[in-house]
Amino acid sequence: MRILFVAGEVFPLVKTGGLADVVGALPKAFRSLGDEVRVLVPGYPEAMARVADPKPPLELGESLGYGPARLIPARMPDSTLDVLLLDCPEAFARPGGPYLDPQGRDWGDNFRRFALLSRVAALIGVGGGLMGWQPDIVHAHDWQTGLIPAYLKQWRSRTPGCVFTIHNLHYQGVFGADVLPEVAVDPALATIDGMEFYGNLSFLKAGLVFSDFLSTVSPTYAREIQTPLYGCNLEGVVAARGARLRGILNGIDHDIWNPETDPLIAAPYSAADVSGKAACKAALQAASGLDPDPSVPLLGLLGRLVWQKGIDIVLEALPGILDMGFQVVIQGSGDADLERRCREAAEAFPRRVAAHIGYDEAFAHAIEAGADVFTVPSRFEPCGLTQMYALRYGTLPVVRRTGGLADSVADVGESPVGTGFVFDGEGEADLLAALSRARGLYDRPAAWREVQTRAMEKDFSWRAAAVRYREIYEMVLKSKT
Ligand code: ADP
Ligand code: GLC
Repeated sequence: MRILFVAGEVFPLVKTGGLADVVGALPKAFRSLGDEVRVLVPGYPEAMARVADPKPPLELGESLGYGPARLIPARMPDSTLDVLLLDCPEAFARPGGPYLDPQGRDWGDNFRRFALLSRVAALIGVGGGLMGWQPDIVHAHDWQTGLIPAYLKQWRSRTPGCVFTIHNLHYQGVFGADVLPEVAVDPALATIDGMEFYGNLSFLKAGLVFSDFLSTVSPTYAREIQTPLYGCNLEGVVAARGARLRGILNGIDHDIWNPETDPLIAAPYSAADVSGKAACKAALQAASGLDPDPSVPLLGLLGRLVWQKGIDIVLEALPGILDMGFQVVIQGSGDADLERRCREAAEAFPRRVAAHIGYDEAFAHAIEAGADVFTVPSRFEPCGLTQMYALRYGTLPVVRRTGGLADSVADVGESPVGTGFVFDGEGEADLLAALSRARGLYDRPAAWREVQTRAMEKDFSWRAAAVRYREIYEMVLKSKT
């Protein structure tokens, strides 16, 4: 099968979150099943600088009001995966992040930037001689690619099939109705059954209604988003497509997240011989300015500092967490207010709480490996990868029962094969009760070791997910013939 992946980010070229990890890893699993995959992403400066073996570009001309654009076929720096960079300097050669300007505001022309990405993806999809390669399936990820199936519908193309994956329903790509002509979408598609959303245009809704099949990144989230509590006002739209929606749990990339081979951690270790983990903990304490005490339990937190992730719940609970004897290491970036509160917590409790504000890939590995306990108290979590990394690194997760957290962590009190601690509720008392159970187990080394071994041996490889996506692709292709 020939598959074109399209997304706003891909690891290791450019990453703001788990989407990049998924788009970097899942294609490798398809390749091992014998499929041919190419990944199309915008040619941001850092992506252009990092790719390997760039080939002569394919000129695309001008489109959607931007200056000249070209497609650059290249390779990922760390694998043989084929990547296509959409090089349009006017749209993508800017300082700042993929979606935000250096001040942290959305780029004002995001609708046009990602319409361009989607339009080029759709053009590659319909063939037309572009690249001499036509995918059977275009697999689009999140709102940035929501217009792909809209363009395909507008052009009345029967092929390729288009699968749309929801990584986070909360980010919707909603823009004023007046941008429609600028993105060259047929007004007939901007109705209430189409991409119209409360008088505006929703790129995410376009993906939801026009694609051939939907998926999201865990079975629990697939159910949750059909309810008002998690549906972000799209629960009706999602539920209406329920028969063509699957929840497939993400995997983790063992080439990158594996304590036996990880070059970014202080010492390697495995489920069979976990002794290297002590050196990782000592290194994390030293790098964070925490007391170098091997006996205290070390709690790690890592993620975007936004409401979704429930970091504020941890900050509220902090006195109780410290009373239980935990040290705490936080790494994250995001909302200015949450960043400030994390910094203040570290200042208030020197040598017991550390806050690394910023984005640091290497230090993320140091936390996963060096902590004893890792918490993800998210209010909602489509899948979540950091708790799966924690399991792999023998760092027991404490998570809220939602989305992929519920699907990847089994509670030690509820299951004979438990791997962590799962709580309900959104209050600090709920989190504290779960952390207290983790603290209790930590004091029983033999029992801790047993759970840790189970956690580390859990199989989160991408192969199982790739097989399930393939079933979707086959269903889609069948429905097209
Ligand atoms: P989300 O995609 O919602 O942010 P995930 O758990 O799926 O959440 O993925 C987050 C990814 O981003 C993980 O690979 C995690 O290690 C990484 N990450 C998040 N924040 C940081 C940070 N401040 N520094 C380094 N890596 C980070
Ligand atoms: C989104 C979600 C996260 C998920 C990631 C990859 O960013 O917030 O839960 O793990 O996408 O699918």
